Amino acid sequence: MPEISKRGMLMPNSPIRKLVPLAEAAQNRGCKVYRLNIGQPDLLTAPKAMEAIRNISANVIEYGHSAGNESLRRKFASFYEKIGVSLNYEDILITTGGSEAITLTLLTCLNAGDEIIVPEPFYANYFSFATAADVKVVPVTSNIENGFALPPISEFEQKITPRTKAIIICNPNNPTGYLYSWKELEQIRDLVVKYNLFFICDEVYRELCYDDNEIRSSMLLEGIDKHLILIDSVSKRYSATGLRVGVMASRNHDLLQTALKFCQARLCPPNIGQLAAEAALDSPPEYCEYIYNSFLERRNFLVKALNEIPGIYCPTPKGAFYTMVRLPVDDAEKFAMWMLQEFEYNKQTVMLAPGSGFYTTPGSGKQEVRIAYVLNIEDLGNAMDCLKRGLAQYPGRV
Ligand SMILES: Cc1ncc(COP(=O)(O)O)c(C=O)c1O
Repeated sequence: MPEISKRGMLMPNSPIRKLVPLAEAAQNRGCKVYRLNIGQPDLLTAPKAMEAIRNISANVIEYGHSAGNESLRRKFASFYEKIGVSLNYEDILITTGGSEAITLTLLTCLNAGDEIIVPEPFYANYFSFATAADVKVVPVTSNIENGFALPPISEFEQKITPRTKAIIICNPNNPTGYLYSWKELEQIRDLVVKYNLFFICDEVYRELCYDDNEIRSSMLLEGIDKHLILIDSVSKRYSATGLRVGVMASRNHDLLQTALKFCQARLCPPNIGQLAAEAALDSPPEYCEYIYNSFLERRNFLVKALNEIPGIYCPTPKGAFYTMVRLPVDDAEKFAMWMLQEFEYNKQTVMLAPGSGFYTTPGSGKQEVRIAYVLNIEDLGNAMDCLKRGLAQYPGRV
């Protein structure tokens, strides 16, 4: 057989999805699996989006514009206007999910061998996308003990080399729920200017900030228009992960023109998804409140329930819908596998995402898992019951 590419060999399995075969096997033996591993909420997709899909009258589903439908780009521009961010529709490219926006950004901004600084733990796919683009991820590690607060900016500065080309952050953060303060964003901005770097800001969870915390979009930072790239998506905001519609936005038009060449090669983002996304952007405030209140209630329930389980430590996430949790186990990945392979309680078990996959520093996150609070309270309660019982029985408990 011809040799598979080195890049392919280096691609990691997603920590979020790699235990799927074990979960399927558990289901096949009749066990209900509470999937807390993946950011797939059980909340209703925005009714406006569903309505738009039902009302499609076209007889041909055609290719669209490579930059995305102009009407959707304009709608996003007015959406951003409402949060005080001034973006012209020409500053916006529609992508196949936020995922493609990240890939396009890396391919457009970094050469093979360049480095990108990322606070870790980070959204695991950043590492996958970077590997696909032959880009090296350089982590700046945050710790569970202080609620994953951003490490001092001096630590970022120490990591800068002649190959450093960009910093990427996710705000509010997946997987930690950390929210960057405006001061922190300004500090990153200063660094970006000092070392002439790109600043990639992933704000797919922007609306989900709890406890009176307010998020200001990084697109409001002044003086770095040529450096800033916004990653956004309709997946989480409208509980519409399968629409596959996202955004790459920047006021740097040389950058966008370059990204557009990649867009042309992949022809266009999904047309039906765009139609539905455009309708979703008109969702009434009640829908947004339904999404927000559901996650807030789930976070409050989950964090309390987790911290009541002996040996567990879970800081309170301030945003998004994930939390990193430290478990009293020898190895969280082994435990997550054991829960699927060996354990069940009342024909139920839990699927967790092993924490180490969200770090690149060897040994980090070994006792941690990421939990997505994407299920209703009853299911979360049952899942916590399973977790508690599983931990009590697990042979590798410490
Ligand atoms: C931080 C972050 N960025 C981007 C994405 C990509 O989302 P999508 O491709 O569904 O828009 C996700 C999905 O979970 C995410 O958590």
